[in-house]
Amino acid sequence: MTTLFEPLTLGDLELPNRVIMAPLTRMRSKQPGNVPHGLNAEYYAQRASAGLIISEATQISQQGQGYPATPGIHSPEQVEGWSLVTDVVHEAGGRMFCQLWHVGRISHRSHQPGGELPVAPSAIKPSGGTFSADWKPVGFETPRALETEEVAAIVMQYRQAAENAERAGFDGVEVHGANGYLLDQFLQDGSNKRTDQYGGSIENRARMLLEAVDQAISVWGNGRVGVRLSPYGTFNDMSDSDPVGLFTYVLTELSSRGIAYAHIIEPRASLAGGQDGTNVQAPHATEIFRKAFAGSIISAGGYDRAEAMRVVEAGIADAVAFGRLFIANPDLPERLARGVPLNPYDRATFYGGGEKGYTDYPIASV
Ligand SMILES: Cc1cc2nc3c(=O)[nH]c(=O)nc-3n(C[C@H](O)[C@H](O)[C@H](O)COP(=O)(O)O)c2cc1C
Repeated sequence: MTTLFEPLTLGDLELPNRVIMAPLTRMRSKQPGNVPHGLNAEYYAQRASAGLIISEATQISQQGQGYPATPGIHSPEQVEGWSLVTDVVHEAGGRMFCQLWHVGRISHRSHQPGGELPVAPSAIKPSGGTFSADWKPVGFETPRALETEEVAAIVMQYRQAAENAERAGFDGVEVHGANGYLLDQFLQDGSNKRTDQYGGSIENRARMLLEAVDQAISVWGNGRVGVRLSPYGTFNDMSDSDPVGLFTYVLTELSSRGIAYAHIIEPRASLAGGQDGTNVQAPHATEIFRKAFAGSIISAGGYDRAEAMRVVEAGIADAVAFGRLFIANPDLPERLARGVPLNPYDRATFYGGGEKGYTDYPIASV
């Protein structure tokens, strides 16, 4: 029987354990320019005992930004900033992937080049809102539907970002296809009403994600590319008429590419971790889609120690990613292995600010 605390070969990487740090947006990059800096490096280095760190979502272009102070990987300063982070993570013995992100319609004009409207597969306004560049709550607007040629250009920005991630010293990239951002907006038919080759059938709706993944593979090789998906997720106003058909197709295609892993978010984690409490009635996505994907599966969303140990021991997942618990417990793998009580997280300090709630969570005393 395999346990959560055993090594795992994940694509080209050898992980010392199966406790993964989930991608976590913290909105603490240096301004102006959305540049990773020393404080971010310290935060990630503190968590280097994770089997793998997946970076916070990182925009591939200015158009791909949707919240204040999220880091990018499209300017030379950002690449340099990330090098600082990956250096200290490696010195501390860790491994780190960069999560490549384009928010699509989950944005606001204040983040967009030239103050233009955010873009999306179709001109459908999501409910809810975000924060403007000056941190004011703002409602979403109806986005502009992308032209077909623009979709191809964004795919090439994924390639450029993958190259930049290599330059910045990451160990690989995770294509963010989850949580209602651009690639997920293309996947699901609640947000994609296109009539070109990127809309309509499941094959067409999956095309952009698969093209972005293929570009990442061409830069990194398939053993250093992962993909994150959130079947049944409703965060950011998402819906699909046939989640089983859609995600079975996507995972089968990803499986044939032999990527390092598929990272599946369990829908029981309300609003992708944006709210406490779990929806116990939600389907178990990892169990449902496991058979569609032959490679390693990282499962995330609402895990505690017992449930994480159970799914790995039962062979349902190969590894488990922890979000909120990793925010509050820099030494999470050791705490879980030893059964040490966990620090509670402070939701008020999740987004923005400085050291408080970021680098000041204590490690367990020996
Ligand atoms: C503060 C916060 C920031 C998050 N940022 C990201 C992100 O940048 N990319 C992503 O894919 N998911 C993000 N998520 C979702 C988490 O990766 C994770 O899937 C979710 O929190 C559920 O896992 P948990 O129950 O272990 O916290 C975020 C969640 C939280 C709470």
